[in-house]
Amino acid sequence: MMEEIIESAVYLKEKTGFTPKTGIVLGSGLGSLIDEIDIKHRIPYREIPNFESSTVEGHAGRLIFGILGGKQMVAMQGRFHYYEGYPMQKVTFPVRVMRLLGVETLFVSNAAGGLNPEYKVGDLMIIRDHINMFPENPLRGPNLEDLGTRFPEMSQTYCPELIERAKEIAIKHDIRFQTGVYIGSPGPTLETPAEYKMFRILGADATGMSTVPEVITARHAGMKVFGVSVITNLSEPSETDKPTTHEEVQNVAGAAASKMRVIFKELVLDL
Ligand code: HPA
Repeated sequence: MMEEIIESAVYLKEKTGFTPKTGIVLGSGLGSLIDEIDIKHRIPYREIPNFESSTVEGHAGRLIFGILGGKQMVAMQGRFHYYEGYPMQKVTFPVRVMRLLGVETLFVSNAAGGLNPEYKVGDLMIIRDHINMFPENPLRGPNLEDLGTRFPEMSQTYCPELIERAKEIAIKHDIRFQTGVYIGSPGPTLETPAEYKMFRILGADATGMSTVPEVITARHAGMKVFGVSVITNLSEPSETDKPTTHEEVQNVAGAAASKMRVIFKELVLDL
């Protein structure tokens, strides 16, 4: 496993000459965030040794290397979802490669269903904590000692300083935001009303099918993490709301991406 991670990192390093300190994972419909980046290299996943190729609609499936705020960075346009059938080691593989490339801070984004009754469609939720409902932990198996410890500490998984700074940026730009707990479940079904209710009772504010595996792996490898969910649908829609479709999720996410761009960009400038 470690050899594969090194092989991928060496390939990317030789191809780009980059040593990015910041990495971004772009979620469903949020790919337009890369418009902020002065792109130097676009590398399809299928060209990178040991990478899978992403399949879900709306996910381009490539690594972007570029400059944001004068700094080198790498972005995943499209991620690997557990529901696509990939083993956890493949879902989290790119995060580990990013670490070897030099990434110290990981920004993650996703589309999520709102569980908190205060939330509205199109809201941004700064992730303050998560609950792992995947049937598996990505760190299960032999520990990669070169990356991190066997029993990673998870008390401050989402960097408190970055959360505070993000709130200031949102307020400055008059961007409506929430701060809450993300619960990650395997999908690919959306939740039944009873399941949404259960997630709320468990203490979550939003739910989605990604992010938790990548964040666990990033923390294992000692990276700082900042995450944002775009609320694309609500667990208790009003009478007139139609059932959630993948298309609807993509459209709402696209519209909210511009707000997220502002926050991510200013945070990166601060790093
Ligand atoms: N549930 C799970 N994943 C999601 C949802 C949802 O309601 N909305 C967007 N991704």
